[in-house]
Amino acid sequence: MKDILTAPFMVEMIRTVTNMYAHGWDERNGGNVSLMLDENEVSEYLDTNKILREISIGFTAPKLAGKYFLVTGTGKYFKNMQYDPAKNMGLFRLNKNGDTAELLWGYSDGGRFTSELPAHLMSHIARLEVNPENHVVMHCHPANLLAMTYVHSLDEREFTRTLWQMCTECIVVFPDGVNVLPWMLCGTNEIGEATAAKMNTARLVVWSQHGIYGAGADLDETFGLIETAEKAAEIYMKIAHLPLVTTISDEQLKTLAAAFKVTYREGYLN
Ligand code: 13P
Ligand code: ZN
Repeated sequence: MKDILTAPFMVEMIRTVTNMYAHGWDERNGGNVSLMLDENEVSEYLDTNKILREISIGFTAPKLAGKYFLVTGTGKYFKNMQYDPAKNMGLFRLNKNGDTAELLWGYSDGGRFTSELPAHLMSHIARLEVNPENHVVMHCHPANLLAMTYVHSLDEREFTRTLWQMCTECIVVFPDGVNVLPWMLCGTNEIGEATAAKMNTARLVVWSQHGIYGAGADLDETFGLIETAEKAAEIYMKIAHLPLVTTISDEQLKTLAAAFKVTYREGYLN
């Protein structure tokens, strides 16, 4: 068996969570990431018949039965991921009923997956319906997006339009827009179900006064999605209190969508 710490998916995961911390998106244990893996990727590094522990997930996800996931641990600091990956992350396969995580590696101090596993797995299911190439769900607490939920309307069309107007490339990067949930109790199946429902129509879902969820084909794409939305929110927070003199018009946004051949969210431009 090869050393799992040299696996490209592991190297990329560690780089990504370290970068998320460096961006200030993941104070303390804030945030969590799940990466879906193929069995043939994992079996080079782990004996997939050797289950270390079985952990009930508290809901059933039959559509993900038999799938492999690398997931950050609950209560674990992103700051520390790189120094002890086996303590701060775990790799498990969902059992055939889709209700139990079969731990194959990690959570080495007796820990377990993020408390937000419902939102992660339910969002994986929702995004896979839209894009069979989806592999990543990422949650974090970027300051400007969070700040925006205190001072901006939470109407999804309005929220999306504001972000699109803040940087020229936003409509190209997230033409599907940003969906928004009101404040809800985190770590529950309910917020998981609500997040997944929002993931049917967009790859970004804001949790008001909490943070954001992103989904994508790989870690880079998902990171870039959140990075772009957070940059737009940063511009908004810099200018919201100043008189607005110029913006990107709806006509210009349509020109961008046409030039970059993206289909923007229907009804979101005038
Ligand atoms: P976990 O430590 O359980 O991953 O929770 C962090 C978080 O961001 C909750 O929303
Ligand atoms: Zn959170």
